[in-house]
Amino acid sequence: MNPKQIAAEKAVEYIQDNMIVGLGTGSTAYWAIQSIGARVKAGLRIRAIATSVESQNLAQELGIPLVSFTEIDEIDVTIDGADEADMNLQLIKGGGGALLREKIVAAASRKLIIVVDESKLVQQLGRFDLPVEVVPFGCEMTLRKLDRLGSTVHFRTANGERFLTDNGNYIADCSFGRIDDPGQLQHHLNNIPGVVDHGLFLNMADLVIAGYSDGNVKEF
Ligand code: 5RP
Repeated sequence: MNPKQIAAEKAVEYIQDNMIVGLGTGSTAYWAIQSIGARVKAGLRIRAIATSVESQNLAQELGIPLVSFTEIDEIDVTIDGADEADMNLQLIKGGGGALLREKIVAAASRKLIIVVDESKLVQQLGRFDLPVEVVPFGCEMTLRKLDRLGSTVHFRTANGERFLTDNGNYIADCSFGRIDDPGQLQHHLNNIPGVVDHGLFLNMADLVIAGYSDGNVKEF
C-alpha cells in the first residue's frame, strides 16, 4: 500500500455514524474519500461536504451523501492533505489550488485531520512555494505587493493558461524560502486587498497522520 493510502485509511477510522465529514482535495485526500465511500457502501451513515468540485464529483460517484452549508452548523471531522506540515502542526496547503474552500471547511470543523506521506514533514515551513489565491481584478498590482514581501512570485498556469480556481480566481505561487515567522507573514498577506486567502494554515490542524514507505503510520 502506498504511504498516502496508509495515512488516509488510518484517518478514516476516526469517522463514526451520523457525523458530518469534510472531504479534502488532492491525491492523499483521494484515498480518504475512496475509503469513506467503501464504508458508506458497507452501511456507514454520514453526510459530507467537499472542498472542491473534483472531490465533490468523486464523492458523488462513490455514493457518499453530500450536504451544503445551508443544512449544517458545523463539521465533525475533516480529512485533508497538505504540502508541508511541521512538528507544531502548522501547514502549507493549496498545491491543488483548493486552499480557499479547504480553509473555509477547516475553520468550520471541530477536528481537522491532515494526512500526508513522510515527504511532507518538515522542520520549518517554506520549501514548498506558498500558494496565494488572488482575484483577477488588479492581479498584477497584487503580484507586485506579494513580491515586495520578499518572495519570488509567478501565476500558476495549466495547459498554457492561467490556472483558475473553483472560485474563478488565480493562484500566485510565492517562493519565500524558509518562513521564520509564519504568523507575521500571514498578517502581511491578510492585509493585501487583492489576496482572497493563502495556503498558510496556522493553528488549524488537530492531528497529522503520516504514512511511511515501510508501511508504518505515525500520528502527531
Ligand atoms: C489542495 C491541497 C492538497 O491537500 C495538497 O496540495 C496536498 O496534495 P497531495 O495529497 O496530492 O500531495 O492543499 O489544494
